Amino acid sequence: MKYEIKCSICGKTTHDLLSFKCSSCGKPLDIQLHLDFETRNVSKSDHSIWRYRRFFPYFEGNGTITLGEGWTPLVKFSDNVHVKLENLNPTGSFKDRGSAILVSALHRLIKKQKGYISEDSSGNAGASIAAYATRAELKAKIYVPETVSGPKFNQIQFYGAEVVKVSGSRSKVAEEAQKPEAGKVYVGHILHPLFRDGIRSLAYEIAEQFGWKIPDYVYLPVSAGTLLLGVISGFKHLVDSNTIKSMPKIVACQTKQVSPLYHHFKNLSYTPPKNVASIADALVSVDPPLLGLMLKGLKEARGDAVIVEEEEIMEAFRELAGEGFFVEPSSAVAYAGYKKQVSNKEVPKDALAVLVLTGTGLKTTLRP
Ligand SMILES: Cc1ncc(COP(=O)(O)O)c(C=O)c1O
Ligand SMILES: [Zn+2]
Repeated sequence: MKYEIKCSICGKTTHDLLSFKCSSCGKPLDIQLHLDFETRNVSKSDHSIWRYRRFFPYFEGNGTITLGEGWTPLVKFSDNVHVKLENLNPTGSFKDRGSAILVSALHRLIKKQKGYISEDSSGNAGASIAAYATRAELKAKIYVPETVSGPKFNQIQFYGAEVVKVSGSRSKVAEEAQKPEAGKVYVGHILHPLFRDGIRSLAYEIAEQFGWKIPDYVYLPVSAGTLLLGVISGFKHLVDSNTIKSMPKIVACQTKQVSPLYHHFKNLSYTPPKNVASIADALVSVDPPLLGLMLKGLKEARGDAVIVEEEEIMEAFRELAGEGFFVEPSSAVAYAGYKKQVSNKEVPKDALAVLVLTGTGLKTTLRP
């Protein structure tokens, strides 16, 4: 057995790739790998996430749905800081790693039952799932908050998905997406373990692009936690397989408004604002269902967390654009977090750091 789908809390296993929560206790499921990473099994001629196909063992034969996701550039930003350009993925964000794996694994099963995909998202994941669904010739219904940004809303519609705007909280949007309807197959990217699992490829790429060495620090913007958990799981797989010696220090960067992970990690109490109004408009999970897993993962990985103010995000966003890197304000949160830790002397100025630039600036609604 090369992998198991296991409940993260009670340990119950399932063989149903379509499951998105434990049938016994309702908690999140995890993919557990029982195969080592081996550099000789990387398909070097494939310049996408599919160079790591062997390490996503739930694919038998072909049937992969791809738009050329992954193998994004790792570019030197300064002497010791590199940026990983996830904004250059097919739909403009890192989410394509998760969507490609999720849709590739499930499209045949969904078609067999004449079903369609249902997903809830604040924007980027909805656009990404919509793109891979249409590539797989599957119908998609994407539930979005009323506040969805214009460019992301347009993108989802151009991919041909049906969009349902839901008023109320982010959890209300998820609730609507999960409501049973004939043919509906819920594949919500936050809960579905296959989406998170696809993000492992990002850790593999960072290590491979550094010649199977690791940077000292990796800075990530964090909201629902799929990016953080996927990256931790990828680096952990490399350590467990003796491909790299140790984990890089992973730093979860959050906005001051939306910072449940930071507060719990630092043993501080957290009260979210009544209305979230940050320029980092993709980071909205004030009560993320994966919080327990994030806390456990970040502690076990001996990572760290940092929060940044609105002015710091804006300054980081402008500074990145000034260097030619036009990314979403939500992505600039990683750079703002790095800058803050350098100025607080929490990270040495010359440490080798990677900032993951998660999404393209072309989707921003900010005006210059
Ligand atoms: C551009 C961008 N960066 C970062 C994140 C945070 O990812 P996660 O929700 O997996 O923590 C998101 C999530 O929507 C995003 O769209
Ligand atoms: Zn369970």
